[in-house]
Amino acid sequence: MDQIAIIGGTPLQGEIPIGGAKNSALKLMAAGLLTDEPLILTNMPRLADTRFLGELLRRLGAEVVESAGPAGAQTRLHTPEITSAYAPYDKVRQMRASFNVLGPLIARTGHAKVSLPGGCAIGARPVDLHLSSLQALGAHIDLHEGYVYAQAPRGLKGGRIEFPFSSVGATEHAMLAAVLARGDTELIGAACEPEMVDLADCLNAMGAKVTGAGTPTIQISGVARLTGATHAVIPDRIEMGTYAMAVAMAGGAVRLTNARADLIGALLTKLEEAGVAVERHGDGATIRRDGRRLTAVEISTDPYPGFPTDLQAQFMALMTLADGVSVVRETIFENRFMHVPELARLGADITVSGGEAQVRGVDQLEGAQVMATDLRASVSLVIAALAARGETLVNRVYHLDRGFERLEEKLSACGAQVRRIKGGGEGEE
Ligand code: EPZ
Repeated sequence: MDQIAIIGGTPLQGEIPIGGAKNSALKLMAAGLLTDEPLILTNMPRLADTRFLGELLRRLGAEVVESAGPAGAQTRLHTPEITSAYAPYDKVRQMRASFNVLGPLIARTGHAKVSLPGGCAIGARPVDLHLSSLQALGAHIDLHEGYVYAQAPRGLKGGRIEFPFSSVGATEHAMLAAVLARGDTELIGAACEPEMVDLADCLNAMGAKVTGAGTPTIQISGVARLTGATHAVIPDRIEMGTYAMAVAMAGGAVRLTNARADLIGALLTKLEEAGVAVERHGDGATIRRDGRRLTAVEISTDPYPGFPTDLQAQFMALMTLADGVSVVRETIFENRFMHVPELARLGADITVSGGEAQVRGVDQLEGAQVMATDLRASVSLVIAALAARGETLVNRVYHLDRGFERLEEKLSACGAQVRRIKGGGEGEE
């Protein structure tokens, strides 16, 4: 398995282009199942996760063709017919977003058998809201031996779905199913993340009638069929935020392009409070930190427009070198502090109590061998390593490959000393 080796201490200078959003792309790909015409997604990230979902979609009957289009990488999805409505355990267990094929399969064929995803490193992550949404749309759901058996032989029908709390995946799943239901659907308490807007825009380009996405109330008037469309994936706000923090950590000045600063307002404000200079542009932002030490600031993760849980680990890494004590609260997932013991291996001083971490800034981090159990935790170690003295070896790089395209290339282009060691690493899974 590959490792990434980083020698810290070099400020970053230059430009980093941001790719399309992984978490949007995955749901947009699932939308390709809803029509027998081609759906072309441009600004597609090329990631292990998108490849993996592509394989599952092929298994269900989709033709998935990746190519280099005029506006960057694109993926053409074409599902003339669903040839199998079965998503097996090995495909759903490895990537939870695979579960979102359930709604489109029922909407298109009236039945589906999809594995339950199970828990993962960051928490139990149940899917009860996904299932109750589909039931509210008239699907009969049975659970046997780890599988969801869903039936809606006469098609789905519109309904009222009230979410007790914000769920990104369940909101997207409800949208994906309701667009082809008979009649009107109302989602109350819907997630407001920018990915909701992206999905609604794509579905509307395919002929769906979705309004209100990006607010807590979404209205959907079902249509009998959807058509093909071409849709550009929204820029990845988590990738942008991650590189913003890499610059804040290593120092220097980097322009993040093909991006949207308005989608990470909560992070940029916190960075400014900590002493980072942020210049917002129409296509991204320039992030600057001179030699001065940052000031510790507190964060609490929250649904959008709050501070994203997917940037919490990176922010904690940044705070390990700040002046003072920072409190980092995680309110979305119950087990999202796995980076803490690994940051401690680099010399960080962090104490966790329940969903709260106290980060006492230290003067210096030191390189070490580290590994992490999820994508964002892994990248927080890379960020910390950029400022650590000496060499850090990050194991289990496959986590990074799930969500960061050409990470070492993008950082090296700005002067970071980062290289991938093919087949390196011991004692990995
Ligand atoms: C999405 O996960 C993202 N994944 C996550 O990114 C992200 O951290 C999360 O949203 C929050 O922003 C994808 O989009 C593929 P949720 P999702 O449903 O949809 C609980 C990354 O690193 N819940 O908003 O699974 C759940 O356990 C990943 O890219 C239920 O209880 O998140 C959590 O505590 C990690 N029942 C909370 O809701 C349900 O049926 C919010 O989860 C569904 C969720």
